[in-house]
Amino acid sequence: MNRDGEETASPWWRGAVMYQIYPRSFLDTSGDGVGDLSGIISRLDYLARLGIDAIWISPFYRSPMADFGYDVSDYCDVDPIFGTLDDADRLIAAAHDRGLRVLVDWVPNHTSDRHPWFVDSRSSRDATRRDWYFWRDGREDGPPNNWWAVFGGRAWTYDDRTSQWYLHLFLPQQPDLNWGNPDVVAAMHDVLRFWLDRGVDGFRIDVAHLIGKDPALPDQPAALGQLDRVGIHNDPRTHPLLRGIRRVVDSYPGERVTVGEVNLHETSAIRAYYGQRDELHMAFNFLPLTVEWTAAAWRELIETVERELGEGAWPTWVLSNHDTQRHRTRLGGDERRARAAAVLLLTLRGTPFMYQGEELGLEDADVPEERRVDPGGRDGCRAPIPWTREQGHGWPVEDPWLPWPPEAGRCNAEAERDDPGSMFHLYRALLIERRSSPALSQGGIRVGPSPEGILAYERRAGDDLRRVLVSFADRQLDVPLQQGWTASVRSAGVAPWDGRLQPNEAVVLRPR
Ligand code: NOJ
Repeated sequence: MNRDGEETASPWWRGAVMYQIYPRSFLDTSGDGVGDLSGIISRLDYLARLGIDAIWISPFYRSPMADFGYDVSDYCDVDPIFGTLDDADRLIAAAHDRGLRVLVDWVPNHTSDRHPWFVDSRSSRDATRRDWYFWRDGREDGPPNNWWAVFGGRAWTYDDRTSQWYLHLFLPQQPDLNWGNPDVVAAMHDVLRFWLDRGVDGFRIDVAHLIGKDPALPDQPAALGQLDRVGIHNDPRTHPLLRGIRRVVDSYPGERVTVGEVNLHETSAIRAYYGQRDELHMAFNFLPLTVEWTAAAWRELIETVERELGEGAWPTWVLSNHDTQRHRTRLGGDERRARAAAVLLLTLRGTPFMYQGEELGLEDADVPEERRVDPGGRDGCRAPIPWTREQGHGWPVEDPWLPWPPEAGRCNAEAERDDPGSMFHLYRALLIERRSSPALSQGGIRVGPSPEGILAYERRAGDDLRRVLVSFADRQLDVPLQQGWTASVRSAGVAPWDGRLQPNEAVVLRPR
């Protein structure tokens, strides 16, 4: 932000690489098998060495953990399982000391059913905070409308005490806040200020597109059947609310940032959540989580993003997160593809979001039925990070809250640090290359013609130029053009550029 409240031409987050930490699975120091804030502090040097710019930490607030932290019972305190508020302050300061910014996860759409606000709200129809949530009478045949919840079942739970239903787009333990009530807005803005005052650099906003709701809560068209609301809810009332949030965040110095989860499937619909640069600074685009591994599909995705987001909306890129299969697993476990995907993530135009452990090439854990704990079936991608080779992998317990990912004896931070050909060193090389190249971190993109099976694009900023080639083919391919170029990074190794792509290989070229 400049003094007139306008976004500067290149705020830090446009050139940054963000790294998501899922704190339960990062590193435990207390010995209970669940990661904690001290664990994060103890690995900040690792993150600085890796070369990322900022961390986003999934929720560590007080929570009954029905949705592992996304059911918050106190936004202004740390759950004892993760540590204390002092630990959060130490973490923010220690990250800043290393030049790393810190984004925290803010969950505005719903609280926990144990949050004092909801406890009050459900206590009687006259409660002070009754209207902070959505309470409605049912219809003859059941709940007030036909909405379905994300983890299954109806989006309504009947409460005997006051003989009404309450709305929850997720679990019954996650009642939806009513952002139509100005007191809710004020209370949630106070939460933002609480963390901004503590020095955080911004927020990842959970399901940001859900907060505006038509108070009539009309049925969704019958044709949508039992589709839950998350992929379809797109109410205009959300936009003024996001502008209010933006004003709070922008009133602080230092280019604080918001990145919102907007779970819609159309890039044009996501675009609207940037507003006129007065809503979200960035919105997630989850299309790369499902795109097919072909040159044509990626080309179309990149061109759609460029066309639909246009000038005013800075793109984001993501391959993996705590809600979905890790990309290496999605790509059939193939390490070559995972390496090429890393090149895409870190050389496309926009801010990349890495997910902890992808720099180690981790795959999803195979979680036996008796150890599954997540209501959404997302345990596999939440497996603990192996830090060292030996049993226990640097955790104080041998068997943390979820089982280890496959090949933890080989895919761990210690072993990969010592192996110059590892996935870790590929990410490091890409991050160094990106940092040193204005073309890669901030420049424009042009997708060019390329032989079948190959995606080719150019990034340019002023005189700085890079060309990226990605092969989606399972056989070696010759690329006829590349006179006068030299390889900065090859996903398959360090050999000099010879005009030939190995199967599923990507290369970053710079003019000789
Ligand atoms: C999106 C989060 O990423 C997910 O983990 C959570 O279950 C839902 N929002 C509900 O908060």
